Amino acid sequence: MKVLMVCLGNICRSPLAEGILKEKVKQKGLDWKVDSAGTGGWHNGEQPDKRSIRVAKKYGIDIADQISRQVRSIDYEEFDLIFAMDKQNYENLMLLAEKEEKSKIKLILNEVYPNQNKSVPDPYWDDDGFEKVFRMLDEACDKIIERYM
Ligand code: 4NP
Repeated sequence: MKVLMVCLGNICRSPLAEGILKEKVKQKGLDWKVDSAGTGGWHNGEQPDKRSIRVAKKYGIDIADQISRQVRSIDYEEFDLIFAMDKQNYENLMLLAEKEEKSKIKLILNEVYPNQNKSVPDPYWDDDGFEKVFRMLDEACDKIIERYM
């Protein structure tokens, strides 16, 4: 399985989702490819936000070597599953997808709360939001492994 995690800037939420899923994949011994990207490119080439690095580290996951990048059209072909962190990312991903690729694109919290179309809140302006975001993504990644392995 090839999984792409997508948020807006690829510095706060999707790097956490990538790091968490990679850790679970490793623990299960699965042969999955996991990556992340942003619908926007303003942070291209940057490390994850320090607050994301810190909360991941607290749970034993190192995401410091990730580099932010923007979603590319080849991603739609390359990946089997593309998880959007929020509704805006989901809509932007859908706009650029070919018809046959649209079914790969999913809202990540629908794995935990089916059909509720909930968003992972953007923690960029909220220092306390990172812990909550980590826990939401941890639960979602457990469900992703259960469902797709
Ligand atoms: P992310 O958070 O989409 O979870 O990486 C954001 C990071 C940067 C910005 C917005 C959201 N920004 O406006 O620069």
